[in-house]
Amino acid sequence: MSKALDGVRILDFTHVQSGPTCTQLLAWFGADVIKVERAGAGDITREQLRDIPDADSLYFTMLNHNKRSITIDTKNPEGKKVLESLVKKCDVLVENFAPGALDRMGFTWERIQELNPKMIVASVKGFGPGPYEDCKVYENVAQCAGGAASTTGFDDGPPVVSGAQIGDSGTGLHLALGIVTALYQRNATGRGQKVLAAMQDGVLNLCRVKLRDQQRLERTGTMKEYPQYPNGTFGEAVPRAGNASGGGQPGWILKCKGWETDPNAYIYFITQAPVWGEICKVIGKEEWIDHPDFRTPAARLPHLKGIFAEIEQWTMTKTKFEAMEILNQHDIPCGPILSMKEIAEDPSLRKTGTIVEVDHPVRGKYLTVGNPIKLSDSPTDVVRSPLLGEHTDEVMAELGYSPDQVATLRSLGAI
Ligand code: COA
Repeated sequence: MSKALDGVRILDFTHVQSGPTCTQLLAWFGADVIKVERAGAGDITREQLRDIPDADSLYFTMLNHNKRSITIDTKNPEGKKVLESLVKKCDVLVENFAPGALDRMGFTWERIQELNPKMIVASVKGFGPGPYEDCKVYENVAQCAGGAASTTGFDDGPPVVSGAQIGDSGTGLHLALGIVTALYQRNATGRGQKVLAAMQDGVLNLCRVKLRDQQRLERTGTMKEYPQYPNGTFGEAVPRAGNASGGGQPGWILKCKGWETDPNAYIYFITQAPVWGEICKVIGKEEWIDHPDFRTPAARLPHLKGIFAEIEQWTMTKTKFEAMEILNQHDIPCGPILSMKEIAEDPSLRKTGTIVEVDHPVRGKYLTVGNPIKLSDSPTDVVRSPLLGEHTDEVMAELGYSPDQVATLRSLGAI
C-alpha cells in the first residue's frame, strides 16, 4: 500500500529528542528520512542512558525508527560537498541544533536557497526571536519557560515539570505539522520556506487554558473550580491546581482499593454535570440529587472537596479497574491511573500498534511507542532504527558517487 508522504525526501539533521520525534513521524507517514550524523560519534543519544553495553540506547532507538543513517563530517570541506548534494536532492531539511550552528557550518538560509530554492528548512529552537533566542534549551527549560511548571503541582509545593515531554516531543509534533503545511503550500508556489517551532511557544500552546485562566483571574479575582476556592487565597498569577480538571467539569484523583501499597491505585473521577444523578446513586448518596447544596454545578463548586472525599469513600472499596467498569456503565467519565508497566503489557495497545515490539540486531527485542496517528490509507510499519552510518554507501550511490569516490571520502574522514 502507498504511504501518504511517498516521494518526500527529508534531510534529517536532528539530534536528541525534539527534532528526531518530528522526522520519525514523517518517516512513519512514508517520507524517506536520511539522518545525517557525525562519523564515529552519531547522535549523542545513541550512547546516553544505555541499558546494554555497546548497543544503541533505547533513547535513540525509540526516536529514530524508519530512518536511514549516513555519516558526514559537515565541517570537512569534502563532507560539506556531500551535504550540498543532499540539499539539492531533498525536499526538507530538519534541524534542531543550537542557534547559529547551521550558519556556522556554512549552511545559511541564503546558501540553501541558492542550492535548492524549493527546500523547506524546518528548525526547532528553544525560544523564538527575543532576549533568549541564542540560548540552548532542553525539555524542562521549555516546560518552565512555557508556563507548564508554574501551573503544575500543588499549591503548597514548588513548581513541577510533567513526565510528558511536551517541550521536546510536543514541539516535534508542532514542527511536523509546519513541514507538511509548507509542503502543501509549495505545491502552489513552487517555493520553499523556513518553518520554526520554538519550544517555549509549543509548550505555551499546550498550556493555552492557563492563559485563559490568567485573564479570568485578573477579571474576577477568583476561579471557582480551582482547589484554592473557597477557603484558600489567589495571588496575581494562575496558581498550581493540583489534580483539578482543566475544563468546566470538576475532577480529581481519588484513592482506590490497594492505594496503601500500590502507588498507582487511583482513579481520575469527573463529576460531569449531566450524570450528577448517576454519581449520587452509584456512591449511595441519593439525597444529594436534589439537595440545594449539590443540585446544580454552581451550587456544588464551594463543596467540591467534600464531594470528592465522599466519592473516595466509595472508590476505596473498589480496584481502579472495578471502579472503571461500574462508572462506565453509568456514563460517568473516569480514568484509571495506569503505570508504565500496565501500559507496556496492555494487549489492546499492542493490537492497535500503539505499543510495538521491535527487533534490533544488537539489542534484540524491545518495546516502543508506535505511530499515535492512524491513517486508514497510509498504515505505519515500524522499522528498527538504523545503526550509525548503516546507509552511507547506499545513499552515496544514490547521490551519484562511485564506490572509489566513497572510499576516498572515507579515507579523508569526510564521511
Ligand atoms: N559534522 C560535524 N559537525 C557537526 C555535525 C556533523 N555531522 N553535526 C553537528 N555538528 C556540530 C554542530 O555544527 C555544532 O558545532 P558548533 O557549535 O561548532 O557550531 C556542534 O556539533 C554541536 O551542536 P549543538 O546543537 O550546539 O549541540 P549541543 O550538544 O551543544 O547542544 C542542544 C544540544 C539540544 C542544547 C542544542 O542543540 C539546542 O539548543 N537545540 C535547539 C533546541 C532543542 O532542540 N532542544 C531540545 C533537544 S531534545
